Amino acid sequence: MAEIKDFYESGKGDRLIDPLLFPEEIKQFLTCEKRILETLADSFDLLVEVGSMYGRYPKWAVENGKYYLGIDIVQRYIETGRKIILDLQLNPDKCRFVLGGAENITDLVKPREWNVKLRKCLLFFPFNSFGNMEDPLVIVKGIKKSGLPFLISTYGTSQETNVCREQYYRDCGYSEIVSLQDEKGVRFVSPDGLSTIAYHPDYLQEIFTIASLKVAIVHFSQIAVAFTLPELAKKIMPITF
Ligand SMILES: C[S@@+](CC[C@H](N)C(=O)[O-])C[C@H]1O[C@@H](n2cnc3c(N)ncnc32)[C@H](O)[C@@H]1O
Repeated sequence: MAEIKDFYESGKGDRLIDPLLFPEEIKQFLTCEKRILETLADSFDLLVEVGSMYGRYPKWAVENGKYYLGIDIVQRYIETGRKIILDLQLNPDKCRFVLGGAENITDLVKPREWNVKLRKCLLFFPFNSFGNMEDPLVIVKGIKKSGLPFLISTYGTSQETNVCREQYYRDCGYSEIVSLQDEKGVRFVSPDGLSTIAYHPDYLQEIFTIASLKVAIVHFSQIAVAFTLPELAKKIMPITF
């Protein structure tokens, strides 16, 4: 955990979300990710972004009548997120950031405090935040314990995706990038501290099975995959990406 946190705390991870560095495939990934959220908008009143950095969707959430909670382990992002809420004059009762880890979701997300029903929350892991977290089984067990609906948006593991990711990490300025592939998935590491994995869908499916949590897998854009509740997947499926 310390290494991941240090990488983002140091600012070396900030380039990963610089739109100027996004290749076309990642632009499409993020456009489709937003369309998925829009499609599911009727299903939730509270959007919880996990691994939020300073927030990808707080403005969208508030503009669409949702409450918003951003969660990240890096204090700097939480502070910046809170400042953005003030700068955008978003209602701080509707839009908050909290410092903490996805491993402690039940302690961090209390739907009752927002006056929202448990099933009307969406635990959302955007833009492969999930693949930057330490232990997927601990997190998936936490999701199960929380009973919260979830949507994990991540990369696939096709050769096309791997080529795209490697070039993108290079364009972000990381050097000596190494690709490690095993039964879990495809991880890219660099001496800067970059360490980001895309899990093979079958492997993540297995993790969900161990945690006794039903999951459906939806491939979207050319390079991305979503893991979500079967009932949410049914709503997403009809969209053509
Ligand atoms: C690739 S960034 C996520 C991208 C960002 N959410 C976006 O949509 O642009 C990964 C983020 O996950 C955070 N993170 C890593 N481990 C975490 C954990 N266990 N719980 C919550 N956030 C975590 C990191 O601090 C970092 O901000």
